[in-house]
Amino acid sequence: MPNEDKMECPANVVKRCKLAILDGVPLMDMMQKNWEQVKLFQALPNDLLVASYPKAGTTWLLETVDMILNDGDIEKCQRAPIYDRIPFLEEAGSASFPTGLEQIAKMTPPRIIKTHLPFHVVPKSFWEQGCKAIYIARNMKDNLVSYYHFHRMCREMPEPGTWEEFFMKFLNGEVVWGSWDEHVIGWWEERSSHRILYLFYEDMKEDPKREIIKVMQFLGKELPERIMDKIIHHTSFDVMKENPMTNHSTLPNCILDNSVSSFMRKGIVGDWKNHLTVAQNEVCDKQYSSKMADSTLQFRFIL
Ligand code: A3P
Repeated sequence: MPNEDKMECPANVVKRCKLAILDGVPLMDMMQKNWEQVKLFQALPNDLLVASYPKAGTTWLLETVDMILNDGDIEKCQRAPIYDRIPFLEEAGSASFPTGLEQIAKMTPPRIIKTHLPFHVVPKSFWEQGCKAIYIARNMKDNLVSYYHFHRMCREMPEPGTWEEFFMKFLNGEVVWGSWDEHVIGWWEERSSHRILYLFYEDMKEDPKREIIKVMQFLGKELPERIMDKIIHHTSFDVMKENPMTNHSTLPNCILDNSVSSFMRKGIVGDWKNHLTVAQNEVCDKQYSSKMADSTLQFRFIL
């Protein structure tokens, strides 16, 4: 049975981080301490990297991948909370939580590894070893809204300030993991040079089966229709919201304060309409058009 108990709250240890610029990328200041080791990480050829800008639907994709690789066996995917099943490469660890590198070292291959790193700072060994990677991207406006609410509830993230202040920080890339547009474009540009499957949150919402089939084909898995339907159900927002192994309720309130906002918050496309003012929407549209002008990458803001 997985441990559904909440982790102990490390008294006086959890405090909001500050930004530290590491190799040009704004990250959490605590990540400085093992940044060199992260960069030197030695991947194994059968490691699978799951990457995203934060709040793009990473947890959804991770649960989907774990279900696919475990042939739709729910029991196996209930073995531990998602953050214990799938280590977070650049996780700096704390008194009560191991670093991502420590977690990875204890895993039996084949390993699934999560990262939010922009492409250009991902450890080179992933590409030298020919590893597969799946990237999920989400439209800028919903990603911004979700990231704002996450900052409010996650007591390790920098102080978000007001919605207006956070809006400007996000647009200027002055948030952890940096600029949204550089992140999504950076991975997009590299998708054909490496074994990268590039997915969109909006596509997963529109037709989860179509996207699950893409993931299965990419991973060389074949599963019957019945199992695919089971995976779709198990990874639906409503089911994942109630599942302690995916909804992060096992983390203490001093880290994720569910009284402020839920980790599994709304899970929809278009919630930005409830947050952005007309003026903010225009600013977003302008920035999006100018940043995407030279790219073939396109997002859908509504379904
Ligand atoms: P919202 O804040 O818009 O609700 P990440 O896992 O990268 O941190 O992303 C979290 C976002 O993905 C949250 O968005 C969360 O609700 C959403 N999400 C998580 N699981 C989902 C699912 N099964 N279906 C749709 N959205 C999901």
